[in-house]
Amino acid sequence: MALRGLALGAACCALATASLAAPAPTGAGLSAPVPEAARVQHGRALARSCAACHGIDGNASGPQFPKLAGQGAAYLERELERFRPQRPGAPAARVSPVMNPIAQGLSAQDRLDLAAYFASCELKPALAPRAAELADGARIWRGGIAGRRVPACAACHGADGHGIPPLYPSLAGQWSEYLVSQLRAFRDGTRNDQGPMHDIASRMTEDQIRQVADFASGLH
Ligand code: HEC
Ligand code: HEC
Repeated sequence: MALRGLALGAACCALATASLAAPAPTGAGLSAPVPEAARVQHGRALARSCAACHGIDGNASGPQFPKLAGQGAAYLERELERFRPQRPGAPAARVSPVMNPIAQGLSAQDRLDLAAYFASCELKPALAPRAAELADGARIWRGGIAGRRVPACAACHGADGHGIPPLYPSLAGQWSEYLVSQLRAFRDGTRNDQGPMHDIASRMTEDQIRQVADFASGLH
């Protein structure tokens, strides 16, 4: 699995690189939507200001920063919107001392273009987690936790963890530590998702959270 990750890594962001060289499509009138290649190219230029934490190719180098590479574009754009306080001084729907001011500085077009760029990058999966955790995590992933009314994660995030766009994000290959931090944030309400994750995370023990996060991180 590690080898596959390395091989994929070599081709990382090939699309973005190709789009830099490709001429702009001809015949695009003034009212035409911005072509995908131009959006990705603009996103790549903006991504320089994200690179210190998320990596220029969206493969964050440390587990405190989520990998953005290969994540669904609609999900990335929505989260950038949620990091923005709706009014000055008001809390954002998704609280992060780091991301809140960064997201505030982005225009709607910036958010779209950054999302298109990072979605086009090739994910280099996180290192395989501890094998001991995998059996328990796999059970939760595939079957949920019956006694606690926790549904199977696979129902929404996909059997392979790649998510179901546009609603359900990919978790495969993400840092386990980051997944744990988000499950805690859903549970504690600092990440207000208006969806099912608050209830799901609230019904899980710390051990169960770690087990399923390790399992998801190991999915490729
Ligand atoms: C100083 C470090 C830093 C920089 C620079 C930074 N980020 Fe982040 N980013 C973070 C951290 C930390 C989180 C996790 C926040 C949390 O816990 O909710 C995050 C989360 C995110 C997420 C949510 C990912 C998910 O899976 O839900 C997106 C999207 C994102 N950042 C995009 C960006 C973009 C685009 C830029 C550049 C314009 C950027 N970030 C710059 C640190 C950074
Ligand atoms: C009914 C559908 C559904 C089920 C079942 C579900 N999720 Fe989610 N999950 C979502 C949605 C929707 C989001 C996006 C949250 C948002 O919009 O803030 C999400 C987001 C997440 C995130 C944040 C990802 C990121 O990049 O920040 C994690 C972690 C997560 N889910 C873990 C799990 C785990 C573990 C399970 C199983 C115990 C699970 N989910 C079951 C719908 C679901």
